[in-house]
Amino acid sequence: MTTELAGLTSAVAVARIRLRQDADLTEPSDPEEPTRIEIAGRTLSVPARGGGARTALRLLARADCAEADLVRTVREHDGDLAVLRWQALVFKLDGAGLLEHAIGQAGDIIARLRPTGTGPVARATPVGRDVMVKLSRFAVLRADKGALTLAVPFGNARVDLCREGLAVAGTLTDWTNPEAVAAAVPGLTTSVAAAILGLLSAAGALAPGGPDHDDESTDYQLAQWSVHDLWLHARSRSPGLQSGYGGSYPLADRFPPLPAVPPRRPGRRLALAAPDLDQTARADPPLTAVLENRRSVREHYDDAPITADQLAELLYRAARTRRTFRGTDGQEVADRPYPSGGSLHALEIYPLINRCDGIPGGLWHYASADHELEAVSDPSPATAALVAAARASSVMSADPQVVLIVTARFGRAMWKYATIAYSLVLKDVGALYQTIYLVASAMGLAVCGLGGGDAATFAAAAGLDPRSEGSVGEMTIGSRSDQLSSGG
Ligand SMILES: Cc1cc2nc3c(=O)[nH]c(=O)nc-3n(C[C@H](O)[C@H](O)[C@H](O)COP(=O)(O)O)c2cc1C
Repeated sequence: MTTELAGLTSAVAVARIRLRQDADLTEPSDPEEPTRIEIAGRTLSVPARGGGARTALRLLARADCAEADLVRTVREHDGDLAVLRWQALVFKLDGAGLLEHAIGQAGDIIARLRPTGTGPVARATPVGRDVMVKLSRFAVLRADKGALTLAVPFGNARVDLCREGLAVAGTLTDWTNPEAVAAAVPGLTTSVAAAILGLLSAAGALAPGGPDHDDESTDYQLAQWSVHDLWLHARSRSPGLQSGYGGSYPLADRFPPLPAVPPRRPGRRLALAAPDLDQTARADPPLTAVLENRRSVREHYDDAPITADQLAELLYRAARTRRTFRGTDGQEVADRPYPSGGSLHALEIYPLINRCDGIPGGLWHYASADHELEAVSDPSPATAALVAAARASSVMSADPQVVLIVTARFGRAMWKYATIAYSLVLKDVGALYQTIYLVASAMGLAVCGLGGGDAATFAAAAGLDPRSEGSVGEMTIGSRSDQLSSGG
């Protein structure tokens, strides 16, 4: 972001504008037709009347421009009256979030406001010299394509910062004002500080309130949010705030999609009995009875532990892969009893057997397309820690007979979705939880969903990289002392 500013050598604030860099400008061959600006799949018609206005738009699309230079170009070609039309157009482009604003000092751009969404952006005006400001506690600074960029959740723009621009951000951990900021950053004038703070304000990166009412910590609706949760919420629920919402296939040109069914694990396998669904349909209690009697049950009946056939029936009815097929985008998708966003079915189930009649203890993987168990690990300190954590989490008086650990093969969702992938995975977990709750309840088994788990311990137990396939849910399953027979 160290764009040289020709002829700029002093420490005077310089403001530049340009069309946002992710926009495409198309000039019509017929000068009577409007110029088109395409941005994130949206096309806007811009009435650039006159050769001067069209030239100025072209300059704006190419590089940082001084507004005075653009005005001069328009005046020279189209006359004084056209200047007013041009200024109105710039005002409109700015309000629509189509312009980047750059602040320079001593030869370089040091801060740049970059609209990121499709909505309007607040106008970037310098902050008053003695106005108290602070960085929002939700602001995040990260490296992106050669720039350090600062943004907040629900912000419609980001601010790229370098050199003194970055030093300005460093002064904003507590309430301050442009004069104090300038005094704290060597070589920075108050007017440059005020202008950079104006960019941060337009991006929504300054905290609301002031020293006497720090809204982000005193107002419940702001204080309740952790930085990470608000980012996930904003990113997964704001189609207008960023490009790439929905199925945008961010990785499709670099990586092949993962298959719907993971590769077979080498080693021991255990065939599972498949229930006769006609018979279970006849024997099951009615749906309303299952729903009305469903409970989280945190006690297992160790005198008669859950059997291999019961676990097999539960997995078959709730989570087997009924078929796989190719989606219209070429990605393999799957059909299971529970629903999944995009039919992607990123979830896998790892039964951790502590006490089950017919299945040796240890960690297994449910090969849902084959309806078999694949051995993952014998009992180990890591599997013991997972059992202990599930017991503590569900406040059980003894170890659970079985813990179903749910993982996500993240690449299944992230190959197709950029901004909603993780939230979709969690929604799938909810759909799977309820399906297991209902089938287990219909079968008279004890079941309890868990809200927390330890992805690192599971990764150690399973030998998986948690960024590739990580645990995202857990349920305890066991027999019940008040065993309800199917249909009872
Ligand atoms: C997403 C989710 C997370 C849960 N986490 C836990 C948990 O960590 N420990 C626990 O004992 N129960 C947990 N439960 C069970 C709830 O406590 C239970 O559903 C709630 O108390 C209502 O009781 P009911 O399921 O019998 O209707 C969880 C349930 C769900 C759906």
